[in-house]
Amino acid sequence: VTGLSSAKSSSSPKNAPIGVFDSGVGGLTVLRALRQHLPQEQFVYLGDLARLPYGDKSAETVRRYSVENVEFLNRQGVKMVVVACATATAWSIELLQAHFPLPIIGVIEPAVEAALKLARQGVAILATRGTVTSGVYQARFASHPLEVHAIPCPLFVPLAEEGLSHHEAAHLMARHYLHGLPSTVDALLLGCTHYPLLAQTIAAAVGPQVRLVDPAASCAQAVARLLKEQDLANPSGTGQIRFHFTDRPPHLSRLVETFLGESGQFA
Ligand code: DGL
Repeated sequence: VTGLSSAKSSSSPKNAPIGVFDSGVGGLTVLRALRQHLPQEQFVYLGDLARLPYGDKSAETVRRYSVENVEFLNRQGVKMVVVACATATAWSIELLQAHFPLPIIGVIEPAVEAALKLARQGVAILATRGTVTSGVYQARFASHPLEVHAIPCPLFVPLAEEGLSHHEAAHLMARHYLHGLPSTVDALLLGCTHYPLLAQTIAAAVGPQVRLVDPAASCAQAVARLLKEQDLANPSGTGQIRFHFTDRPPHLSRLVETFLGESGQFA
């Protein structure tokens, strides 16, 4: 993974990078999936580590941060933006789509579409407190004949960041959060971009009859569809990433490796 020499050098929008932002490193699970689906695309990743977590902040603050993040990515000459944070998507996707003249995709809509294909009786959404409070997922499922359970799982974020996704502590927390989940739930939506790291641990807590929806995979598929529909796919890119972080904690390299699944060179 190397830095782009110049994000603005491309003359055609097809060659321009895709902007991806998250409150920190959770969005790297989305970037990982994007790279698997779209190996020729270039990316500019913005991780707002200085202001993380978004999951416990007010709607107003998350909206302000999200607008600033897209303004930054827009200045880098991106051709579209992926909001790789469920909390930022929950509070601000409509505002961002109305405010910026760029295609902007969040992680919620594609995951809901995927969950609707799997759920027969009931769906559970695991997310940050902010996302659950926003009611966005619940509203999206309301017109469907499904039981909906939204469960805030705040401790999953630090467990994933500490590299403890498979530790007994994570299994204990998964059983704690999912204790009492009705047997009618047959689809479970990972409603936070940190949670794909805990997918196996969460699956072990609910059993094989519950199908998991990974927001990173469904978002990457939606981005690939949009690029095709809007004729924006890069025909000749080499999959480079330029990273920007608003803070650089000493363990940043380890965090990037854990979430991206490869090491990053930071611009
Ligand atoms: N990435 C955020 C999300 O998907 C979780 C981390 C945070 O609270 O900032 O909701």
